[in-house]
Amino acid sequence: MKRNILITGGAGFIGSSVVRLFVKKYPAYRIVNLDKLTYAGNLENLRDVERAENYTFLRGDILDIELLATIFQEYTIDSVIHLAAESHVDRSIHNPDEFALTNIIGTIRLLRAAQAAWHTNFQGKLFYHISTDEVYGSVTSGYFTETTALDPRSPYSASKAGSDHFVVAFNNSYGMPAVISRCSNNYGPYQFPEKLIPLMINNIMHNKPLPVYGKGENIRDWLYVEDHARAIDAIFHSGRSGEVYNIGGNNEWRNIDLVKLLCQIMDKKLNRPEGTSGRLITFVKDRPGHDLRYAIDPAKVISETGWRPETDFATGLELTVDWYLSNTEWLAHVTSGEYLKYYDKMYANR
Ligand code: NAD
Ligand code: TYD
Repeated sequence: MKRNILITGGAGFIGSSVVRLFVKKYPAYRIVNLDKLTYAGNLENLRDVERAENYTFLRGDILDIELLATIFQEYTIDSVIHLAAESHVDRSIHNPDEFALTNIIGTIRLLRAAQAAWHTNFQGKLFYHISTDEVYGSVTSGYFTETTALDPRSPYSASKAGSDHFVVAFNNSYGMPAVISRCSNNYGPYQFPEKLIPLMINNIMHNKPLPVYGKGENIRDWLYVEDHARAIDAIFHSGRSGEVYNIGGNNEWRNIDLVKLLCQIMDKKLNRPEGTSGRLITFVKDRPGHDLRYAIDPAKVISETGWRPETDFATGLELTVDWYLSNTEWLAHVTSGEYLKYYDKMYANR
């Protein structure tokens, strides 16, 4: 079957993995990637598909309702996979307005554009919203399931929860065919080096301190980005409208243990004496309102779609470290502009 899919945020970390997968796996689908190219979006992430016949890149903002209307009409869009967002918790603490605008209002605009284009016939249409486990808040024991009450605690997760509610509201109030998935922390190539794993790799490469927030006891469940992209593929094709699917790797790590593991891997890769990178670990002031633990129960997506994670953590980390070590130009490029000013300001305050 032919599909005309609008993927938003396709030049970001997860979006570029999804675009790459769909463009290559489904030559009969037209993939339209709409991305504003903020500091986190980068067309270098898409070099291997940019000339594909079934792929179109459009630079633009999901807040631009007229542009959205034109795109839906011009490309007869029948499905949306919505990833565009402001995605970094620390930034959200400094600038909540921008998160509300992009993540909540941006999602509403996209829903309205889909509603306007599809309302006469919802048959064969799908609005797929990509969300995060962070909307459930922090869990001390047990796991988040799809029925866990939303309890967002950072401006980022509040804005994602807000967008999730609007997707549900459009499904309920207007009959918009919609599905939501909530994934745990992703890692892998092309992740902007403000997030834990690439930040630590980058700092080790440059012999810079490794800022571990608080005591490093916070726990995250890590999933390789390509496994997330495969889950999105599975849910896009066999998820049920009106449903939520949690995606996770059953792979919980305390931050400090993960950073120490990365230090060991990096010492080996860089032929440095054992313990060299570990000496860079620096405990810094905690993130305000830092959620202690995220943990996902992915039973539903596994039983309904047959998806499961394929990349074990040792392999995924090795692939990730190797990618950053051999893509130093990419790293230099993405950290060359505004980001370094932001980073220095952030860490001056800790
Ligand atoms: P990212 O920050 O790497 O990429 C976001 C992309 O959205 C960028 O390419 C950016 O240019 C684009 N964008 C931002 N504002 C835009 C706008 N107004 N109009 C058009 N494009 C815009 O983010 P990511 O880590 O790839 O996350 C993608 C999605 O997955 C987000 O919705 C995020 O909430 C969700 N998610 C992320 C994780 C994770 O661990 N990174 C986990 C679960 C869910
Ligand atoms: P992050 O990658 O920002 O993802 P999220 O906050 O969405 O889970 O952070 C992952 C964990 O690592 C989180 O508990 C905060 C912690 N952290 C540090 O200790 N130091 C850092 O420099 C960063 C960026 C994160």
